[in-house]
Amino acid sequence: MIPNKQTETLLADRPSPETIAAWRQDFPILGREVNGKPLIYLDNGASSQKPRAVINRLEHYYAHEHANIHRGVHVLSQEATGAYEAARETVARYLNAAEARECIFTRGATEAINLVASSWGGANLQAGDEVLLTVMEHHANIVPWQMLETRLGIKLVVAPISDEGELLVEEWEKLISPRTKLAAFCHASNSLGTVNPAKAMIAKAHAKGVPVLLDGAQSSAHMKIDVRDLDCDWFVCSGHKIFGPTGIGVLYGKAALLGAMPPYQGGGDMIDVVSFSGTTFRGLPERFEAGTPNIAGAIGLAAAFDYLDSIGHEAIAAQEQDLLAYATAQLQQIEGLTIYGRAAEKVSLISFMIDGLHPNDIGTMLDMDGIAVRTGHHCTMPLWERFGLTGTTRASFAFYNTREEIDALITSLNKIRRLFLG
Ligand code: ALA
Repeated sequence: MIPNKQTETLLADRPSPETIAAWRQDFPILGREVNGKPLIYLDNGASSQKPRAVINRLEHYYAHEHANIHRGVHVLSQEATGAYEAARETVARYLNAAEARECIFTRGATEAINLVASSWGGANLQAGDEVLLTVMEHHANIVPWQMLETRLGIKLVVAPISDEGELLVEEWEKLISPRTKLAAFCHASNSLGTVNPAKAMIAKAHAKGVPVLLDGAQSSAHMKIDVRDLDCDWFVCSGHKIFGPTGIGVLYGKAALLGAMPPYQGGGDMIDVVSFSGTTFRGLPERFEAGTPNIAGAIGLAAAFDYLDSIGHEAIAAQEQDLLAYATAQLQQIEGLTIYGRAAEKVSLISFMIDGLHPNDIGTMLDMDGIAVRTGHHCTMPLWERFGLTGTTRASFAFYNTREEIDALITSLNKIRRLFLG
């Protein structure tokens, strides 16, 4: 990657080795060994590791505060309810939502997209309507819409990308027609790293009266998210990729849109009055949180957001962009290695192939050296079809990774090349 202006500024502010070492101390798992080697965790795109602040918060919740929420007059239930709703306030502040009730807790980004597809899509789409996607979408932002294709007869329209892995925004805009009822796209690609110009795209879609669902599963760990500045209609993210627990995610939606959507799942807590002659539903956010939610997950996610605020988004971006530039330059030195995803603006991940080597073999051999990467299609099969591939090896970095870890990755890759290819 040729660093752009923004990257150059970020690189100038690179955190000191002492700062990075202190961050690493916050993540107990980074101290362990794998296959007799110090763990080098470069699979943050799949799931990031958890700081003590999150682990301790979960432990404290289960040790001292746990009860079901919204249902008890007793102290514990009220404390748990307070902590859960405080977590929603933290999430709203973190995403800069106008109101906490615009933030619905879900199982993850996948469930959040399914919620919008099923609820909003089911109520607002009909045969012949179009949903505009891009070829770089994760399966989670394809399959729920395909299910509506089958159920309702809607049509999916797919915008193309360049060989560099950048969305062809002009082509995307041309695909918005009077039949387009929704544009759904990723803020950042989990396979290429490409950061899409979301704010400008949302403005273009809105100018044509089309609402936008922004998939922030891969962007939210790397940059400050401001849903009001982006002006997206829905935003989804997954807690476990943002240093929070698994099984928790967020659906943000503008209150007017969410409030007009029918419930997604039925059950306890989302109802007002239930009777066999008819049931009425609560407003936001409870309407979309049927059953006992992931209380600990929500509280743990809020702890992750507080932790990230304490590190600072500028520092995170500076460190990650340094790692991205450094790793890109180093990987390009390896004979026969091709990087997929060379957009001017990327989050800190690199997908690559090495001539003559299968990604799974590379991943397995790297693991022997304690290096964790992801291999395969990364849940973006249509994207790899576009490149004539079935998948890649992907190294994805978090702010706690170091240049020394990238050096170890390069040494290991060179060793693997020699071993397999002579
Ligand atoms: N979506 C996750 C990834 O990119 C699982 O690896």
